Amino acid sequence: MTATQEKQTHPTPPGNLGLPLIGETLSFLRDKDFAKKRHQKYGSVFKTNIFGRPTIMMIGSEANRFIFTNEKKYFESKWPASTRTLLGPDALSIQTGDIHKSRRKLLAQAFQPRALAGYVPTMESMTRRYLQKWEQQKTFAWYPELRKYTFDIACKLFIGDETASESSMGEWFETWCGGLFTLPLRLPGTKFNQALNCRQKLLNQIETIIRQRQHQAEPGEDALGLLLQAEDEDGNHLSVEELKDQILTLLFAGHETLTSSVTAFCLLLAQHRDVLEKARLEQQQLQRTEPLSFEQLKLMPYLDQVLKEVLRFIPPVGGAFREVIETCEFNGYTLPKGWTVLYQIKRTHQDHSIYNEPEKFNPDRFSPERTEEKPYGYLPFGGGMRECLGKEFAKLEMKVLATMLLREFDWELLPNQNLEMTISPTPYPKDELLVNFKRLN
Ligand code: HEM
Repeated sequence: MTATQEKQTHPTPPGNLGLPLIGETLSFLRDKDFAKKRHQKYGSVFKTNIFGRPTIMMIGSEANRFIFTNEKKYFESKWPASTRTLLGPDALSIQTGDIHKSRRKLLAQAFQPRALAGYVPTMESMTRRYLQKWEQQKTFAWYPELRKYTFDIACKLFIGDETASESSMGEWFETWCGGLFTLPLRLPGTKFNQALNCRQKLLNQIETIIRQRQHQAEPGEDALGLLLQAEDEDGNHLSVEELKDQILTLLFAGHETLTSSVTAFCLLLAQHRDVLEKARLEQQQLQRTEPLSFEQLKLMPYLDQVLKEVLRFIPPVGGAFREVIETCEFNGYTLPKGWTVLYQIKRTHQDHSIYNEPEKFNPDRFSPERTEEKPYGYLPFGGGMRECLGKEFAKLEMKVLATMLLREFDWELLPNQNLEMTISPTPYPKDELLVNFKRLN
């Protein structure tokens, strides 16, 4: 018996493959408790069928360890067809093998500490502009505002465009995002088809910006400027075609996930005044310098704990996809070659064997005295060779906004609103977070 045949003697995990073709895709897209219900019914490894493929969901630190330490051996990144098509073949999340490795190194140049420190003044001034706007608005839905805020920051820092959310680009982006996790039906009127049209418009716009930049004497100090000059090990530059897909990915990743995480921060602190007051006290006790600096932002241990807990409690990315490239076995189950694996961030963060009362929002679980953590048990940014490239950028932007909010402003939730989370494709409250916003006296 060969090693592979031996492995196949184990059963595939329990679960339901659902209807032919469509499988359980609709429940997956509509039911935010899809994984929770099946986790309770079948345990931490179960099968389903989503986006046209048999898929095994894997939950918990051991499962994550198994996936992250066997990338390239048993697993390779493979997102659903809709996501792959809309991100484009040259996007980092879609690239695999040596190309992925070399591109990751190249793109990482835009997220080095020196580049990050250089982003702080822009983040601060753009945050101030939005804070002033919200102060004037007083009562409003915060989530759409935070979407514009993160989009404008991403567009400014990545391609030098400061008010993109007010242009057609903002609209195209929204429609494009709406198609990322859908059935890839190229039929008039489907979300996927609309998103494809918007992808083309976005790429055209990005190409115009790249071409203009190529004709300038100075490439510019944003991420595009850095990437236009960046070279791989062989001295090659990124082609315009590839640059377009990579920039689109950065704009998406730098905006969608961050909107969800800053919204979660604003919501959770309004619901937990004790945490808000403690975080504010830390700001008041700091030796403040104006303007904000990268160095000063490192000196806020309690705020670090709060942001860490926000990302545990409401992780913007619920999980990520892999393809099984060689049949293997995990916990007595066969993972057959060609099937999809989806590791579960959100469910892992709710694991009672890792966290005390995981269903409670409590930043103290990450205090130096407690440090409730376990390898591969905290993974808002994924792990291993595919770990989020923009992790430090994301933490920085969350921190800039959090710091400025805590120092100067206060906010409370309006009554009678639906705060239940919906996921599209990242979580946010159904009524879009209605708040009263004011300057502190
Ligand atoms: C990958 C989460 C912000 C760029 C990932 C992955 C996760 C994640 C879980 C891993 C997916 C996998 O295992 O396949 C988040 C969260 C964010 C955030 C929670 C905000 C709170 C950002 C930002 C950027 C970014 C700001 C860049 C501007 C990327 C890229 C990848 C990635 C390029 C693909 C990495 C690769 O495949 O090698 N992110 N992300 N992310 N993220 Fe983020």
